[in-house]
Amino acid sequence: LYGYSMLYRLPIPSSLTIGMYQKKWKFHRDLPPTTVFAYGTSRMTATVPGPTIETLRGVPIYVTWKNHLPQNHILSWDPTVPTAIPKNGGVPTVVHLHGGVHEPQSDGSAFAWFTSNFRDTGPAWSQQTYTYPNVQHSGNLWYHDHALGLTRVNLLAGLVGAYVIRDLFLDDYLNLPRGPEFDRHLIVFDRSFSTDGSIYMNSTGDNPSIHPQWQPEYFGDAIIVNGKAWPYLKVQRRKYRFRIINASNARYFRFSLSNGLPFVQVASDSSYLPSPVQTSNILLAPSEIADMVIDFSISTTKEVVLTNDAPYPYPTGSAVDQLNGNVMKFIVARRRPFLPDRSNVPANLVNYQAATTEEAAQTRYIVLYEYTTDAGTPTHLYINGKRLMDPVTETPISGTTEVWEVINLTGDNHPMHLHLASLQAIKVQELVNLEEFEACMTTKNDAVACNVVAHATGKLLDIPPYERTWKNSVKIEPGYQTTVVVKFNLVENGEPYPFDATAEPGYVYHCHILDHEDNAMIRPLKLLVS
Ligand code: C2O
Ligand code: CU
Repeated sequence: LYGYSMLYRLPIPSSLTIGMYQKKWKFHRDLPPTTVFAYGTSRMTATVPGPTIETLRGVPIYVTWKNHLPQNHILSWDPTVPTAIPKNGGVPTVVHLHGGVHEPQSDGSAFAWFTSNFRDTGPAWSQQTYTYPNVQHSGNLWYHDHALGLTRVNLLAGLVGAYVIRDLFLDDYLNLPRGPEFDRHLIVFDRSFSTDGSIYMNSTGDNPSIHPQWQPEYFGDAIIVNGKAWPYLKVQRRKYRFRIINASNARYFRFSLSNGLPFVQVASDSSYLPSPVQTSNILLAPSEIADMVIDFSISTTKEVVLTNDAPYPYPTGSAVDQLNGNVMKFIVARRRPFLPDRSNVPANLVNYQAATTEEAAQTRYIVLYEYTTDAGTPTHLYINGKRLMDPVTETPISGTTEVWEVINLTGDNHPMHLHLASLQAIKVQELVNLEEFEACMTTKNDAVACNVVAHATGKLLDIPPYERTWKNSVKIEPGYQTTVVVKFNLVENGEPYPFDATAEPGYVYHCHILDHEDNAMIRPLKLLVS
C-alpha cells in the first residue's frame, strides 16, 4: 500500500511538534500533484493523512501544533456560517484529538483557533502546547482540524491523522496480529479532483442567496486510502489487523470483501468488544472506527477487493457506482508465509462496565432538526433548535452517567459525537405519528411537552453486535429515537481524571458530518462538579 504513514515511536514521556504545511501530494499515478494541507514534523515529511502518533497508556505526551499555512485557503469557504475570520488573513486551524480524554484547554475548541505563527487567535485560545494524558484504556483515536466553520474544508484539504494508545501488557495477552506490517491503519475518505489535480469542491451553495458556498454534504468520486486513490496492498497468507477510520466529510461506508472473506471485528471506535464479532459487512459513519482482523490464509482468490455499497447521503441517497463502490485491493501471496503466523484472535477480548440506564443521573432529550427553504433545500441544521453560541444547556456532572434520548427529525442518518465522553446506543425505536410530533415540536420545541414517550413506541432496530461497546460516535437513524448511555468520566475503574474537566472553554458535541457540524449541528458541553 502506498502512502502508509510514518510511525512515530515515541520515547516516554514525550514532547512533539507537529506542523501544518501546504504542499503537493500525489494521490494517484495518473493524476497531477494536488495542493494539500498536511500534518508533519517538517514540510518535507508532512503527509496526507498525517503521521500516526503512537502512545502508551498512562504516559502523557505534549504536542505543540503549529500552523505554517499561507494567507489563503486552497478551498472556498463560506463566511455566512459561524466562521473563524482572522483580522490579518491566513487559515485558522485548531487540532482536536477525537476520542481523547483530556482537559478542555487541550481539546481543540472551535473558538481556540490560530493562524500561522499564532498571529491571530480565536477568543478561546489559551496555549500552544496540548497535553494528552492517555489515561484512558488503550484504543484507536484520530486527530483532525476543528476550526470554527472551517472544519469541512480543513479536513478536505488533508488535516487528518491517526493516534493510538497501546497497552503493551494487554497486547501481549491478546496476541492479535502485531507490528507495523501486520497491524495497520486504513484511513479512508472520498475526494473529487479537477483534471489539473486540484481538489474539486463545488464552490456554489445550494442556496447561494443564503449561503454562497455551503453545501449540505460533500461527496467525492474517488476513494482514498492512506493518501492514495484505490490503492493495493500485497499481503501474506496470514492474519492482519486493520484499524479502519472513516475520515470522510459525509460519506458512510458499508464495507465487504469481494470474495466473501469475513471481517472479525475486535474493537469499535476506541474500545474493544467483549468478544470478536464475525461479520460480512460493516457500516461506518464519518468518524467511526472499525478495528478488525482479516485472515488471508483462508482466501480462495488471489485478489480481494474491499468494496462499499452504502448509498449517499445515507440511507436514502444515490447508489454507489464503479468509482466509489471500490475502496482498495489486497493481493494475496500464492505461498504460505516463510514465518508462521503465531497471532491469534482470542475468544474473549475486554469486558468494560455494561451500559445501563440504572445509574443515570439525568435524562436529556436531544432533537436534530434540518431547516429548509420553501423549495425544500437545506439552509442549516441545529440541535434542539439552538446554535453553538446560544447559552450552554448540557451541563453534566463530571463522573456521572446520563441517558441521552436523541431524536432525529431529519431525513438523514447523523453520527452524533461527544467530546470527552464515551457513549453506547442501547435502543433504537421508531417514532410513530411522526407528523403530529413534528408539528408540535415546531411550535413548542420541547420533546417532553410534545409527549415523546407516547411517540417513541414504534418498531425497534437491531444494534449490530460490532457496535455493542463504548464508542465516541453513534449513528442516529432518521425518524427514530436512539437511547444513548453517556459516561462523562470514563476511566474504566471509575477514578476521576488527573485534570479539571470543568475548566473553560469546555467541550462540544456535534454531528460528525462535517458540513452539518459547520452549519451548525454543534452545541457546547460544559462539565460541572457536583
Ligand atoms: Cu472528530 Cu468534534 O470531532
Ligand atoms: Cu448531521
